[in-house]
Amino acid sequence: MLARCSSASIQGMEALPVTVEVDLAPGLPGLQLVGLPDTAIQESRERVRAALRNSGFRGPLVRVIVNLAPADRRKEGPAFDLPIALALLVASGQLDPQKLEGLCCAGELGLDGSLRSCRGILAMACQAKSQHAKAFVVPSANAAEASLVTGLPIVSATTLAQLVDQLRHGIKDNCCPQPAAEKPATTTSPASPSTLSSAAPLTIQHFAQKALAIAAAGGHNLLMVGPPGCGKTMLARQLPKMLPPLSDSDALEITRLQSIAGTLGNVTSLVRQRPFRAPHHSTTAAGLLGGGINPRPGELSLAHGGVLFLDELTEFPRSILDQLRQPLEEGVLWISRARLRCSFPCQVTLVAATNPCPCGWHGDSSNRCRCSELQRQRYWNRLSGPFLDRLDLQCRLEPVPTGQLRRCFKANGDPTERHLEGSFSSEAIQAARIRMCQRNPGSQLNSQLSALELGRYGQIEEQAFQCWEQVASRRQLSMRSSLRLLRVARTIADLEAVPKVGEQQLAEAICFRSYDQPPRVNA
Ligand SMILES: Nc1ncnc2c1ncn2[C@@H]1O[C@H](COP(=O)(O)OP(=O)(O)OP(=O)(O)O)[C@@H](O)[C@H]1O
Ligand SMILES: [Mg+2]
Repeated sequence: MLARCSSASIQGMEALPVTVEVDLAPGLPGLQLVGLPDTAIQESRERVRAALRNSGFRGPLVRVIVNLAPADRRKEGPAFDLPIALALLVASGQLDPQKLEGLCCAGELGLDGSLRSCRGILAMACQAKSQHAKAFVVPSANAAEASLVTGLPIVSATTLAQLVDQLRHGIKDNCCPQPAAEKPATTTSPASPSTLSSAAPLTIQHFAQKALAIAAAGGHNLLMVGPPGCGKTMLARQLPKMLPPLSDSDALEITRLQSIAGTLGNVTSLVRQRPFRAPHHSTTAAGLLGGGINPRPGELSLAHGGVLFLDELTEFPRSILDQLRQPLEEGVLWISRARLRCSFPCQVTLVAATNPCPCGWHGDSSNRCRCSELQRQRYWNRLSGPFLDRLDLQCRLEPVPTGQLRRCFKANGDPTERHLEGSFSSEAIQAARIRMCQRNPGSQLNSQLSALELGRYGQIEEQAFQCWEQVASRRQLSMRSSLRLLRVARTIADLEAVPKVGEQQLAEAICFRSYDQPPRVNA
């Protein structure tokens, strides 16, 4: 007898429909899987057989052929265990075929018949809804995630036996947990003493504060250069707290990305916190950009909508950093394989930190740097010119004077609130974003504007243009760098609530790109 069950497979950010077909034919007992299954699906033979037996069902004593249609697309993961088991029950006459009609199923089986969570459920639920599925059948552990898609009935259970029992008695939407009351985004909530991180800086210098605020408001990439222990890492970790809350569509996309990457965990509401990803410099290209036969998102895409922090930038292999160039520019990463091509969004604010030279003390007032000019040149040679060109803000940070820290020790009040004061507060950053979204086409951030849009909507004064031209030719800035200078100046004007970009904003933007790397040498 032939039986069918609908399911879905993940490809990039999308879930694509898959029909699991099971046919029982006379012959020696055995289960054959066809339709380009990967190793995890091949192994589902053993899991399904054991789960059926341990759940009190008859195992097939004939030849079983399982086909995953369409047969020309590679399928991956253990989520096909459940649809295979259910189709087998129908084919062997242990479940009425009508009970599976219109259902979409996904879930991993344990040998004891328990149902285990699997990744990509949110994308599959969106796909099931678009296919007008009667209900989406998932393990209980995935029910809350699936129910984030409104208007799609969810059926869930903890074991296969429990689920079949439900199906036999007629399904009812047994899992539509009320979406949990949305917690205010941590990025905007003022830190209470109880939630205050012990890693919060006591104080931040005005220049560093402004660089962070510009990066947060306009989505500009930031490079911080400074001596050891001056607080670069600490400052970068403050950035997510300064970013405005996520819109519903961004929150859905970020939740979906985390679900596909398998890092979501148990959620009852959309992820509302902007991501902050800080991969170690030993990370591989696949770890940073994503990859695999059936590609999964890497750190870059997992930082979508938030911050990608590359600490100790010069320690990252140059070849890996250079692979970031194109996705940073386009905000989307395309991965091509022989059989498939998929994309992951990656609109991130890149924040990088490094020392100015191998010993770390170049430019320090203590004069303790003993690195030769050649050593310094070689150190900066680890970063390619085109990669550095993409960093809008490049500034040197100085250590906070101990006297300033001491005053902070004595001062009362909450240090995290104190350092986000005035025009650098998350409220001011949010207001700047509202201004730029109202002015820019498609509600884009200033860093995302094309040259044409910048000229048309940037509201740049003639004197500022003249000054910009002079600076660009004197410093021999590339076309990209000079446009980025204008975008930063536009963000500074938005932060200061100034309608037009004048010379002053442009001069400030130049200051924030004033870190001079040594001239390049041939390695
Ligand atoms: N503004 C500050 N307020 C309070 N503590 C600070 C501040 N700046 C630095 N520190 C202290 O100095 C330590 C080192 O800071 P951090 O790790 O950010 O330095 P870094 O610039 O990243 O150094 P490296 O170049 O060695 O990586 C922090 O753990 C913190 O204790
Ligand atoms: Mg550091």
